Amino acid sequence: MDSLYLTTAIDYANAQPHLGHAYEKVLTDTLARYARRQGRKVRFLSGLDEHGQKVQQSAAKAGKSPQEFVDGISVHFLDLWRGLRVEPDDYLRTTESRHKKLVQEVLALLYAKGDIVKGTFHGFYSVRAEQFLTEKERQSDGSWPEIFGEVVELTEENYFFKLSKHQDWLRELYQKNPEIIFPEFRAKEILGALEKPLPDLCISRPKTRLAWGIPLPFDENQVTYVWFDALLNYVTGAGKGEGKLAEWVPAVHVIGKDIMVPAHGIYWPCMLRALGLPVFQKLLVHGFWTRKSEKLSKSTGNVVDPKLLAEKYGADSFRYYVLREMALGHDADFEEASLAARRKGELAHELGNLLQRAGSMIGRYCEGKIPDAPTPDAVSVAFRATVLGALKKWDDLMRANQIHLALGELWKAVQAGNQMIESRAPWKLAKDPALAGELRATLADAMAVLELVLQEVECVIPTTAQAGLRQLGLEGRVEARAEDWPQWPSGQAGRPLGKIEPLFPLLEDEKTKG
Ligand code: ME8
Ligand code: MG
Repeated sequence: MDSLYLTTAIDYANAQPHLGHAYEKVLTDTLARYARRQGRKVRFLSGLDEHGQKVQQSAAKAGKSPQEFVDGISVHFLDLWRGLRVEPDDYLRTTESRHKKLVQEVLALLYAKGDIVKGTFHGFYSVRAEQFLTEKERQSDGSWPEIFGEVVELTEENYFFKLSKHQDWLRELYQKNPEIIFPEFRAKEILGALEKPLPDLCISRPKTRLAWGIPLPFDENQVTYVWFDALLNYVTGAGKGEGKLAEWVPAVHVIGKDIMVPAHGIYWPCMLRALGLPVFQKLLVHGFWTRKSEKLSKSTGNVVDPKLLAEKYGADSFRYYVLREMALGHDADFEEASLAARRKGELAHELGNLLQRAGSMIGRYCEGKIPDAPTPDAVSVAFRATVLGALKKWDDLMRANQIHLALGELWKAVQAGNQMIESRAPWKLAKDPALAGELRATLADAMAVLELVLQEVECVIPTTAQAGLRQLGLEGRVEARAEDWPQWPSGQAGRPLGKIEPLFPLLEDEKTKG
């Protein structure tokens, strides 16, 4: 069976989860569910990045030990994932011993091979910020910004990963296979970065400056630094045994655009190559959420709390909104009013109402059981063709990672269902016994389109879709598609419906507005 190893970035455990984190995990969860629906075997990995200076500093500020601090933060992340129905097969925290063992094993291996060597690191260090500064941070007059306090020139012994020797190979990799980056235009950004010679990568820090990291197995006075530890989460999480260099399955990595160059696009393939492992299948690079076109940032108060939104509008409305609104790979602006409008319109009014109306009419006219449809008439034939056509387009677009457009196509099937009910007017048909066949056709077709749509959209709105399927008298569980998908459902006739209830009930403030 075709299998897929799908990962998210591991979030920094130095603060609460934000909208960007929530989007990426919802996106990846949807891709995992969709791949399962296609019959693929999926391993979905997510996790937390728990080492490093930022965490050490945040913990100190909170008056906690780093471990205590990340344990506390991890609860917030895990709570959010539960609430949003983000359901990875494995959730890796980089402070877990299985990961520390793997990182040390990799370090020892690469040191023995001569891919990691000792060298001298030279730079400008801010004592206040406890970090090295780059030339980018220097002001035009050559001085350093006030916020960094005293800046000293520092030279220290560190370890380096030999990145430079991979330059030609890496350039060729992206020239020949730009499709391993999505969207493909981003492969050019990586190639652009490869025009300059690659420096070797400093991968360690003295323990005296950074205590919160994984110790080097060949130098007890040093710990690994940031990316070397974080990127290897994908190997640990491949899930092939504790503390052993796992059997690597080339993955699809979902990441944001800020961590493509240099980390995932440059360091990571070189690390894989040094380890003798094949390069990833794909980097799926999403864009950034902004608000009022500005960066989301705590310091300016421009933050969006995904937990509050999910509580207010429901997790599925949040999931639907972020996936419908953002063209995967590009930036999008978050607007709460737009979330509310999509919930009220596309979800409640279009999808929810179709089930509510057709379901209650089946209660009223057909004793709560899906009626037996007669041989389809011309209206029914055209309707079914529209729906199956929309499903095909949905599938093509999902395969092309155009989730926002795919949802638009799927909604055409929902809209066709509502239009069909409007024009056939079953409440009129029910008054004339001679039209009983058309009444049955209308209601059976409505149930069929709902079944088809809910099974597909489960990957985006799992809780509601499952509830909807139960109202249709099904188990609610969504399984892999049949070989011949999409086909018009058969064998629905006579199935009793469950209790019909609104899928997206009015929110409190919508009720009071009337
Ligand atoms: O970068 N919109 O962690 P992180 C969309 N630990 N996505 C956003 C975003 C926004 N406004 N802000 C951040 C790290 N992200 C490292 C990753 S992976 C081996 C190590 C995305 O918490 C960001 O692009 O800063 C990244 O993919 C993820 O959130 C975690 O960001
Ligand atoms: Mg970040």
